[in-house]
Amino acid sequence: MPASPVLLVTGASGHLGRQVVERLLDNKSGRVIAGTRDLAKVADLVDRGAEARVVDFDRPETLAAAFAGVDRLLLISTDALAVRKRQQRAAVEAAAKAGVGHIVYTSALNPQPSETNPVTDSHYWTEHAIAATAAGFTILRNNIYADMILVALANALKSGQMFSATGTAGRNYVTREDCAAVAAAALADAFSGRRILEVNGPAPVTQDEVAAWAGAIAGKPVAHVPIPAEAMRQGLAAAGLPDVYAEALTAFDVDAARGYHAVTTPVVHDLTGRAPTSVQDFLAANAEAIRAMA
Ligand SMILES: NC(=O)c1ccc[n+]([C@@H]2O[C@H](COP(=O)([O-])OP(=O)(O)OC[C@H]3O[C@@H](n4cnc5c(N)ncnc54)[C@H](OP(=O)(O)O)[C@@H]3O)[C@@H](O)[C@H]2O)c1
Repeated sequence: MPASPVLLVTGASGHLGRQVVERLLDNKSGRVIAGTRDLAKVADLVDRGAEARVVDFDRPETLAAAFAGVDRLLLISTDALAVRKRQQRAAVEAAAKAGVGHIVYTSALNPQPSETNPVTDSHYWTEHAIAATAAGFTILRNNIYADMILVALANALKSGQMFSATGTAGRNYVTREDCAAVAAAALADAFSGRRILEVNGPAPVTQDEVAAWAGAIAGKPVAHVPIPAEAMRQGLAAAGLPDVYAEALTAFDVDAARGYHAVTTPVVHDLTGRAPTSVQDFLAANAEAIRAMA
């Protein structure tokens, strides 16, 4: 790898991408390029020393120029869940053609081909597309963000009930901040081989525990209500969630119920040098927001 590698982060204006770019700049990790569909949204990162390029996976004809000269690329999975398999394959193809040496990709646990769930399907096929290139890679299979608990709590704190299809199984939530630290480290380090890393918190927690901790912080009891997967899917759809989200969230709960999310790995510590944040500490750090929701 060159002494000062060219690092490009796609989706740099997103929650995760922005944090990764900030860390790379803080750590003086080489030449840092913030790739985004909207350059105005990364103007502050440019002020801090990043370069910026337009990167839009929906415009594959522009990606050769976007990825030119890049040594290491962080490809952040997009939020266009229904179409991102096509988007991300186009991005991988362009990266390979541009001669990118190493591709880091934000995947999820247990990626599977699926005709009904484009979230897991797109992760599976993007991983395959990356492996089919000549590039080195780091696949980051991120567990569910602890930050997602706050989204679930918005309703749970109003009704006092937190529904899930995880049963009594645990999930090893990882904070988005820890995922950003891992992604920045994986992008900046000199690793040039091919690896798949599962990115988790310090220990699995059950939904009963999450509900109890959140209720204690809010000063209002919250009960975890385990429900069957189909009831979960229908409940999410009835609440107005698009099918693709209802399907994906239910499938993640089913995976958790079957134990796939309860894995503990040393990846956060190995790549960042510090322990991952626990759910309890994460909730405590967000106590004000949790009380405001109650
Ligand atoms: N593990 C989890 O619990 C969890 C939870 C939520 C999401 N995720 C996944 O992790 C990703 C990052 O999380 P986040 O919290 O940062 O989500 P986010 O803030 O919603 O960011 C969405 C990202 O998608 C990018 N994007 C959308 N359309 C694109 C296109 N046509 N070409 C290139 N990039 C495009 C955006 O980039 P620009 O706007 O800068 O172009 C942005 O970085 C999400 O997109 C999603 O795939 C994981």
